[in-house]
Amino acid sequence: MKNKLTVVGAGNVGATVAMRVAEKELADVVIVDVLEGVPAGKALDLAEAAPIERHDAHITGVTNDYSAAQGSDIVVITAGIPRKPGMSRDDLLSTNAGIMKSVVSEIAKVAPNAILIVVTNPLDAMCHVALDTSGFDKTKVIGMAGVLDSARFRTFIAMELNVSVDNTHAFVLGAHGDTMVPLPRYSSVAGIPITELLSAERIEALVERTRKGGGEIVSLLKTGSAYYAPASAAVEMAEAILKDKKKILPCVTYLQGEYGIQNLFIGVPVKLGSAGVEEIIEIMLTPEEHEALQKSAQAVQELVDDLKRLG
Ligand code: APR
Repeated sequence: MKNKLTVVGAGNVGATVAMRVAEKELADVVIVDVLEGVPAGKALDLAEAAPIERHDAHITGVTNDYSAAQGSDIVVITAGIPRKPGMSRDDLLSTNAGIMKSVVSEIAKVAPNAILIVVTNPLDAMCHVALDTSGFDKTKVIGMAGVLDSARFRTFIAMELNVSVDNTHAFVLGAHGDTMVPLPRYSSVAGIPITELLSAERIEALVERTRKGGGEIVSLLKTGSAYYAPASAAVEMAEAILKDKKKILPCVTYLQGEYGIQNLFIGVPVKLGSAGVEEIIEIMLTPEEHEALQKSAQAVQELVDDLKRLG
């Protein structure tokens, strides 16, 4: 393949990202993990599926050998410990911040022009660690949250109205957590805002389920967190970048005054192309929506402050 995508973390999200990227022939894939054997094993298993799936992407897996990631166009970072039942995303903060620092400092050496897609939770805070550690331009450090949260909202809208998911569109902004801001006014079925199709009570129920979407999966799986949909979301972002699609997607990006938010990573609509975040789209928000976004930003700011305190 012309492009190269590295996935750091050969766990559930990482391996699923590798599989989807290869099957879509978006790039050759390198999987890096700290575990001995696991990345090589998963890469070989995926490579052995290639004749059946009929793709020609090369997939390699390595243990701690970042030279394999040399010159990557995109690096998807999933390395970390996942959320266990009863554990909030914030509990993960210090462990995953340490992991993020070590991963990104290695990546910055071998792939200085890569675009980083951060998946590790707590996502918004991890983007700060990735930006600070890499020294990359802010347009090249992007967090995966809004695409996943919007996909969850779309799923619930489609289930509720018994329509194709293909007909649905949704925007979920804000932090990837309980303070996320689903925007029903900008969410639609075949172009019709859901506010014209559903009662306020039903919309609120779908919004609430979306907010708790990650937790719902955790409580069912019991031994880990969601990975099929998170991987799909990260791959949609990678595809938009690799194909220079100029696709508008809700992503976690570094705001410097947009939406009245300063120096903070949070989810808003952006245009994704080969340069990464090519534009931050400022949509009109009602005073209530604006306030919800500010509240969400406050939650991220608290985590970022915690990070600073933890050093
Ligand atoms: N370098 C590389 N890989 C690491 C490191 C490190 N320093 N530390 C941990 N890992 C690897 C683990 O060995 C494991 O294989 O990261 C992988 C994480 O995989 P899982 O435990 O299966 O977690 P997963 O479900 O994939 O979630 C990964 O994404 O959605 C988020 O909250 C989730 O932060 C979590 C991340």
